Amino acid sequence: MVILGIDTSCDDTGVGVVAGTRVLANVVASQSEMHARFGGVVPEFASREHARVIDEVVGEALRRAGVGVGDLDLVAATRGPGLVGPLLVGLSYAKGLAFGLGIPWLGVHHLEAHLAAAQAEADLEPPYLALLASGGHTHLFDVPEVGRYVLLGATRDDAAGEAFDKVARLLGLDYPGGPALAALAERGDPHEVPFTLPLKGQSGFDFSFSGLKTAAARFVEKGYARADIAASFQRVVVESLVTTVLRAARQLGRKAVVVAGGVAANRLLRKRFSETGLRLFFPPPELATDNGAMVALAASLRWQRDPTPSPWGLEAAPYLPLDAEDSHL
Ligand code: KG4
Ligand code: ZN
Repeated sequence: MVILGIDTSCDDTGVGVVAGTRVLANVVASQSEMHARFGGVVPEFASREHARVIDEVVGEALRRAGVGVGDLDLVAATRGPGLVGPLLVGLSYAKGLAFGLGIPWLGVHHLEAHLAAAQAEADLEPPYLALLASGGHTHLFDVPEVGRYVLLGATRDDAAGEAFDKVARLLGLDYPGGPALAALAERGDPHEVPFTLPLKGQSGFDFSFSGLKTAAARFVEKGYARADIAASFQRVVVESLVTTVLRAARQLGRKAVVVAGGVAANRLLRKRFSETGLRLFFPPPELATDNGAMVALAASLRWQRDPTPSPWGLEAAPYLPLDAEDSHL
């Protein structure tokens, strides 16, 4: 099966090609620079830019994969969740391409795609836990069987990546702030600035990061060194994610955890998780942030267990819970 996958859920035009679960090409046209001067993504600009470059990015991905359009067996695109304008560009393109080629298409859930990036090459069978930490989501799922996602907890306010981006901005770093903040943190003392662990003592598995953002603003005003704020903030965010997942794993008796989404690229997060004794599945760093290959991988895994194409009328879904019944349409 040669599959083309497209992700235009937010600000990057991602197109990947896989054969089975082997990634043949993964091309991401980043819009970060365009949005940087606004300090975040401007949806209408993102849509226009996707529409402008998508044909070129698809051509480049096929060229790098060494396959022609005639070799494709399936076209997949992120259906949601995400920004509706950007989603529509990728979705319409995928449907049009598949329809024109006379091959099936699949609408893919963005979070399932993030998970697929971490498990495609892995020897992983449910049950396991799945933590998704990106710019838009911080969700912890229990996956008791293939394709079933039970939401255990989620952020009550900002997503983990969003908190990284906002605190990075406070520290004068460019968007997207996650990688920049992590780099600055390397030079700081993670115990210097007194952030408190959010939702300490809760019995559930929720997250909350907006308080850390407010605290960071106060610490900036108080004159703490920027590198120390970055390092201490990063430590507490990572601590919150790791301890919550570990507690869920113990309570449910789960031994394996998939950690996916843009924040899974964070090195401290990987290090701290590796110290928990859990069996861990991370995406390769280049597949951690939004890309098209993960969409193709999710389509590939789904097609293996259920080769039913999506209907041509399937629409973009800006809000689409992964545990909703229709998430697998
Ligand atoms: O999954 P993703 O590419 O897009 C969404 O679906 O949201 O995640 C992007 C998020 C951004 O907030 C970015 O700052 C964060 O992931 N991120 C990181 C790192 N790399 C990306 N956060 C912390 N450390 C990193 N190394
Ligand atoms: Zn994402």
